[in-house]
Amino acid sequence: MKIEQNFELKPFNTFGMSVQAQSFVRVNSIFDIKSLIKEGYFNQPFLILGGGSNILFTQDFTGIVVKNELLEKTILEETEEYVVVRFGAGEIWHETVMFAVNSGWGGLENLSLIPGSVGAAPIQNIGAYGVEIKDVLLQVNFIDLIGGEEKSLSNAECFFDYRNSIFKNELKNKVIVTSIDLKLNKNSTLKLDYGDIKSELSKQNIEKPTIKDVSQAVINIRQSKLPDPKELGNSGSFFKNPVIENELLQKIIQTNPEVKSYPIDENHSKLAAGWLIEQAGWKGKRVGNTGSHKNQALVLVNYGNATGKEIKNLAYTIIDSVERQFGVRLEPEVNII
Ligand code: EPU
Repeated sequence: MKIEQNFELKPFNTFGMSVQAQSFVRVNSIFDIKSLIKEGYFNQPFLILGGGSNILFTQDFTGIVVKNELLEKTILEETEEYVVVRFGAGEIWHETVMFAVNSGWGGLENLSLIPGSVGAAPIQNIGAYGVEIKDVLLQVNFIDLIGGEEKSLSNAECFFDYRNSIFKNELKNKVIVTSIDLKLNKNSTLKLDYGDIKSELSKQNIEKPTIKDVSQAVINIRQSKLPDPKELGNSGSFFKNPVIENELLQKIIQTNPEVKSYPIDENHSKLAAGWLIEQAGWKGKRVGNTGSHKNQALVLVNYGNATGKEIKNLAYTIIDSVERQFGVRLEPEVNII
């Protein structure tokens, strides 16, 4: 393990922010992590980095950045109906999805092309097109950074919720995920109801879609709407879709009958943050080196030389503007450091 000093993080975050880590280390094994714990590296400020696709650096990081590169693909159990596979936290998420899709194992196809790593996926319970990782996850395996023990939590123990889990709350900065165990189906039921999946499939004249077809449809939809971080720095959805009281929804409906909302429970509904931001006039708008993307207002982009502070300023200007217009305060989904 090589600990590097004053390390440039630009290639390690999809926003493309040029900031430095005081120290930087890649971990490839549980042994590496245990050594860092023994040597006291987690007693100073630290940051566990996966694919760097859900993070906005606004300044240099004074402490150690630990890049999780634990690789593993192990079949733990296989029957006629399903397979349980352990994937290492450092595996690239989309490659993992493609591995499952090409093996004919269903469950991950709607989560195709999400940037990031396997280890980060359960932390924010990644989701897209009607599927969340919690739908196929059996357990999360991790190392407790305080005691140094290897531990696991079952799906129920992770308290998964919309873009949320125990790892963003009680266990925040207390563990490093080493792997996740997923149960994938050999005869899976495809989830086609969300968004544009069906229309994308019919555009391709596909009547009886396979797992691969659904994956390709999701890839096509994402590529048509979301900017490729290799071309335009971004972290996907910058804000969460807000959950609001139905009383407030009724007020919004009075002035905007076309508002997009989904019922959550008797008293609450979820709104599409992208719609709110678009209505507030931000879609496709550029402010200096930053902007809200032209095809998906929820995605903030770096046009080249933006600093994290500029992106953060734009984010909070948008938050205030949406709040003034609709009385809804958006919350960032991206981790601002
Ligand atoms: N909308 C607008 N204007 C916009 C963007 C969206 O009016 O500029 C409307 C759309 O017309 C649609 C609704 O908002 O009716 C929802 O849009 P979309 O289906 O694009 O999804 P989203 O709610 O904006 C969420 C996730 C995405 C995920 C998509 C597809 C969050 C914060 N984002 O976006 O996840 O890919 O659903 O399932 O939940 C991410 O987390 O980084 C991410 C990209």
